[in-house]
Amino acid sequence: MLSQPIPYQGSKRRLAPAIAPHFPVPVATLYEPFAGSAAMSLFAARHGLADRFVIGDALVELAELWTEILKNPQAVADAYAARWADPDGYLAVRQRFNRTRDPFDLHYLLIRCVKNAVRFSSRGDFSQSADLRRRGVHPDRLRAALCQAHQLLTGRCEIRVGDWRQTTLDAAATDLVYLDPPYLGTTVGADRRYAQQLAQSELLAGLHSLQLRGVATLLSYDGHTGPGRLAQELPAELAGTRLLLDAGRSSQATLLGRDEITFESLYVFTNWRTS
Ligand SMILES: C[S@@+](CC[C@H](N)C(=O)[O-])C[C@H]1O[C@@H](n2cnc3c(N)ncnc32)[C@H](O)[C@@H]1O
Repeated sequence: MLSQPIPYQGSKRRLAPAIAPHFPVPVATLYEPFAGSAAMSLFAARHGLADRFVIGDALVELAELWTEILKNPQAVADAYAARWADPDGYLAVRQRFNRTRDPFDLHYLLIRCVKNAVRFSSRGDFSQSADLRRRGVHPDRLRAALCQAHQLLTGRCEIRVGDWRQTTLDAAATDLVYLDPPYLGTTVGADRRYAQQLAQSELLAGLHSLQLRGVATLLSYDGHTGPGRLAQELPAELAGTRLLLDAGRSSQATLLGRDEITFESLYVFTNWRTS
C-alpha cells in the first residue's frame, strides 16, 4: 500500500485496489473532484491506469496543500517537521489556522487530530481536537510519502479548487471521473462532517450531466456495517451497476467491541463512455 502524504478520514487507500479493476481502458485523464487525500489518483498513477490527473476539492486550503506538494514536497515536509517538534503546539496551530488559513497548518492539524477527521464549526473554524494518544506520523516517514506523491503526479496533474460540477466541466469521453462525495448521512442532520455539504439532488444532477456528455464515471457511495443493511439506491435511469465492496473492519465498530465488516457501494457507470 502507498504511504499517505495527507492522512485523511474516508481515504480510499485501502479500497483503491478493489475499485481500480473497474476503470475503463484507456483513461486519458482521471478526474478526482472530491479528492481529499487523492488516494485513487495516487493508486492509478502508481499502476499506470491514467495518463493525466485532475485533483479537485471544495476545501480551498486542501487544494492549496496539493499545489504545494506538486511544487515543493521538501518544503511541505519541513513545515510539518517544524510543527511536529512541539508536541504541545496543537491548539496554537489551530488558532493560527483559523486566523490565517495556512495550508501547512491544515496539514499538521489533519495529521494530529482525532481520526484525521476534518471538522469545521458553523462559523467555519477548524474545530477538531488533538488525538492525545498519538503524536502524528514521524516527519521522516511523511517526507518519504510526500516525495513519492510528488514523483507520481508531478508534470501530469492539475489541481483545482471548487465544487465538483465545476471542476469536471471539461471531462470528455476519453476520461474517467471518480466520485467520492461525503455520504448522505454526513451531509444532513447533526453530523455535518465536511466543509461543503452535498445534497443528493445535486449529486443526481451532476451524474446526469456526465451521462449526457458520455463520460465514464465511478461513484463510491454509502458505507454501512454488516451485509444486511441496504445502501442508498440511485435511480434506475442512470443505468449503473452497483457493487458492494468489502472495506474491511469498521474502526467505529471495533471501538464498540463489535467485529463488523464495512461494505461500501461502488456504482459503475463506465457504460456511459461514448468513444
Ligand atoms: C469522502 S472525502 C474524499 C476522500 C478521498 N476519496 C480520499 O481518498 O481521501 C470527500 C471530500 O470532498 C470534499 N467536498 C465536499 N463537498 C464537495 C463539493 N461539493 N465539491 C468538491 N469537493 C467537495 C470534502 O472537502 C472532502 O475532502
